[in-house]
Amino acid sequence: MARLGVNIDHVATLRNARGGSEPDPVAAAAIAELAGADQITIHLREDRRHIKDRDLHILRQTVQTRLNLEMAATDEMVEIALNVKPEACTLVPEKRAELTTEGGLDVRLHQEALKPYIEKLQAGGIIVSLFIDPDPDQIKAANKVGADYIEIHTGSFAEARDWKEEEEELIKLENAVKLARKLDLGVNAGHGLNYVNVKKVAAIGGIEEFNIGHSIMSRAILVGLHQAVRDMSELVRYA
Ligand code: PXP
Repeated sequence: MARLGVNIDHVATLRNARGGSEPDPVAAAAIAELAGADQITIHLREDRRHIKDRDLHILRQTVQTRLNLEMAATDEMVEIALNVKPEACTLVPEKRAELTTEGGLDVRLHQEALKPYIEKLQAGGIIVSLFIDPDPDQIKAANKVGADYIEIHTGSFAEARDWKEEEEELIKLENAVKLARKLDLGVNAGHGLNYVNVKKVAAIGGIEEFNIGHSIMSRAILVGLHQAVRDMSELVRYA
């Protein structure tokens, strides 16, 4: 049975929009866990645009399941991870100008730079996953640098423009899972998965964990809006 990692970065984005303290990602993490999340996933970006160091430190103390820290492979981030000790670190590429993580990590190109970081994290008892495109060369490179897991970037599948393209992308995902399993790499998946397209990816089998953020938070706003408006409506009416 696959695990669900709930990415709560968007809760922090909303909080930061007003510079205040709500909604608190720590509260969101607790609710996600109560609802059955197997893991809380957060991305501490170099520019701290959503999750802040404060969130990471409090979540380390409050998360009851597993904490998965997405981060760039840099000295600063590896030091933070070794200090905070999340159960897992997912290494992702990071560009300041991007809206979200746009592509997978080029493990082939950056093998030499990545290896010492991976080894340091593993020596600290942290599981290391590499966020990569479903590309056989990247999977082989991830194996070569000693990663425990890969997280397959499902963005190209999610953004397919028609059923034919979607089918082609799904086959790439299937082949990627097969190759990774053959190499004894654990397989996670994420990015752009929603309440419609996740079923096809989950049906592939062999994927241990899904990390999903945007679609869950989007749905939370819509399914929660009714109650939120009712609550406020009562306050203004009957005060
Ligand atoms: N996995 C990784 C490595 C990511 O960078 C992201 C986006 O932060 C996700 C999963 C979740 O993607 P989405 O928000 O599209 O569900």
